[in-house]
Amino acid sequence: MVNATGFGASLSMAAHSTPGGNDRRSRAVAVIGAGYVGLPTAATLAHFGHRVVLAEQDEYRLAALRSGRMPIVEAGLDELVAEGVSAGLLRFTASAAEAVAGAEFVLLCVPTPQGDDGSADLSYVEAAAKEVGMLLEPGAIVVNKSTVPVGSATLVEQVIGRPDVRVVSNPEFLREGTAVRDSLHPDRIVVGGDDTHAAAMVGALFASTGAPLIVTDATTSETIKYASNAFLATKLSFVNALAGLCEEVGADVRDVMLGLGYDKRIGFDFLRPGPGWGGSCLPKDTRALLHIAREAGYDFSLLAGAIASNDQQLARVVAKVTAACGGALNGVSVGVWGLTFKANTDDRRDSPALQIAHRLTGLGGRVRAYDPTVAVGSDAHSDAVPDDLRGLSLCADPYEAATGASVVVVLTEWDEFRWLDFARVHAVMATPSIVDARNLLDPAAVRRMGFTYTGIGRQ
Ligand code: NAD
Ligand code: UGA
Repeated sequence: MVNATGFGASLSMAAHSTPGGNDRRSRAVAVIGAGYVGLPTAATLAHFGHRVVLAEQDEYRLAALRSGRMPIVEAGLDELVAEGVSAGLLRFTASAAEAVAGAEFVLLCVPTPQGDDGSADLSYVEAAAKEVGMLLEPGAIVVNKSTVPVGSATLVEQVIGRPDVRVVSNPEFLREGTAVRDSLHPDRIVVGGDDTHAAAMVGALFASTGAPLIVTDATTSETIKYASNAFLATKLSFVNALAGLCEEVGADVRDVMLGLGYDKRIGFDFLRPGPGWGGSCLPKDTRALLHIAREAGYDFSLLAGAIASNDQQLARVVAKVTAACGGALNGVSVGVWGLTFKANTDDRRDSPALQIAHRLTGLGGRVRAYDPTVAVGSDAHSDAVPDDLRGLSLCADPYEAATGASVVVVLTEWDEFRWLDFARVHAVMATPSIVDARNLLDPAAVRRMGFTYTGIGRQ
């Protein structure tokens, strides 16, 4: 059953067709996993008046939370968390088992990384379900908020093995960097389960958002999540491919996107060409959906093409940097600005910036990298350097990264890169050349200062 309605204007319809759907009572909620999803979700639910216990097994993340620090970079999160804690509505624990005592709802927000064959690895979800299963309150509702493949609600039900416990799918659509805003003001709430009443009760947890509520079956709900990320990834691959075409025909991709964006059916969002799409979700979720399609015997070549096109985009940026260095990178110093997968987050999982930086070192380039979220202080080969940063020389600021470089490549769209002293950048570089893989800078302005400038999809 699909029931798309609203919490606000269509209140009576929602209450009528999805019993409990608009019940704004304060509920006891356990959230398992204090990551990019669990932490903003827990703080948002506390903001809405629910009593939330957040379980986190990672000692570093838990210690940070307990001492009032945020373990992740996310605008506005510290205030929202502090509000919940001081209101006595949000507390933290190391143990999922402890968190579920007294909880009416248990939200699983644990990782579902990519498995070896491209499918989602459900081991964290299964482990969490196993850990809490026998301890759940009678009649508790378990919520799969992690991104999970079709059939996972049933799987979690089987792991828990309790006829009184219902499992509901409630995919999350927040973006990193705007997670607080997205949690407080989501575009929609999707809940899916065989038990419509349980699904509506989960929807009601978020009634204060006023967002449209879609109540459906678990399979459809699970499919909606993958479909959303796959659509966004495909849109970006189209945009990046079009940028490549613009370079060949001499068009300006920014104006092309302006012309597209004014069409309301297309819209302006997700039209910025870049170095390729990445992050902890789009890459793994597109591959997981491809795996689901393959298993189901469906040839999803469109999605396979979008994924392949993304790899080509990374290669195109590497080729631009190589060309800017005269055709070879061996022994050449390259300044890299930005390492996170996009701005306003500290997340480097599946970051296009990092992948490009490593491809450059693989071609013999000596990469000097700066990112505002990466701490400096150890050399590139010391044990203190996280594995994903090995082989890169980490710099304290963008000027240091540019020093002695034959080219600087902008890989993450951090706003601070716009406002640098470009005369100083020019002075410290071996050759004043910029490859702007985010189209962040004003080409005319930097060219006037004597830089050679290469953007994406524009002259
Ligand atoms: P994350 O790795 O940042 O956080 C998960 C947290 O869960 C970790 O801190 C981990 O220590 C903790 N954890 C794992 N098992 C636990 C257990 N048994 N008890 C207590 N804590 C446990 O991951 P994330 O980015 O928050 O993603 C979580 C899920 O949400 C994934 O399925 C992801 O695909 C999905 N998702 C992520 C985003 C995003 O923007 N990151 C958006 C929508 C959906
Ligand atoms: C994405 C989705 O946007 C969220 O709705 C979803 O909940 C989330 O994945 C998830 O399932 O984890 P997120 O990973 O935070 O959110 O990042 P996006 O803002 O979607 O960006 C993804 C990648 O696309 C980044 O590398 C970004 O730089 C790139 N991008 C995005 C562009 O190159 N151009 C754009 O116009 C937009």
